[in-house]
Amino acid sequence: MDKEKPIIIGSDHAAFELKEKIKGYLLGKGFQVEDAGTHSIASVSYVDYGKKVAEAISQGRFSRGILLCGTGLGMSMVANRFRNVRAALCSDIFSVKMSRIHNDSNILVLGGRILGDILAFELVQTWLDTGFEGGRHLERIQSMDA
Ligand code: RB5
Repeated sequence: MDKEKPIIIGSDHAAFELKEKIKGYLLGKGFQVEDAGTHSIASVSYVDYGKKVAEAISQGRFSRGILLCGTGLGMSMVANRFRNVRAALCSDIFSVKMSRIHNDSNILVLGGRILGDILAFELVQTWLDTGFEGGRHLERIQSMDA
């Protein structure tokens, strides 16, 4: 992925620590990161942060985003309500790859209470490195919002 395009990232308290680590990972790789919060381990609703990131993607203010909560489930439910958002909850490399190749996922959703740090970094890196195949898959993803 183009490093000129900033990535927006958000989490609730349950995944705050993993969000911080992923932010550090991305910055270390030369990406620009917009942190939509949360900014501490104080309890918050994942819905608020999911909406912030999904809205930014939906409106085209950012092309790619990462969302995290305890399981990733709540964040993926929230994010996929937004037009033009294709949020993929993944915890394995194959799903991450296919979410890019076939679904052109624009939000990667991760579970902070599920993943270890190293696997999370691998998932993020794979998601950034994998392109969309287009072709018949383009019509399919376009028809989601038609
Ligand atoms: C917070 O306790 C937890 O419900 C949240 O992080 C997430 O897992 C929701 O889907």
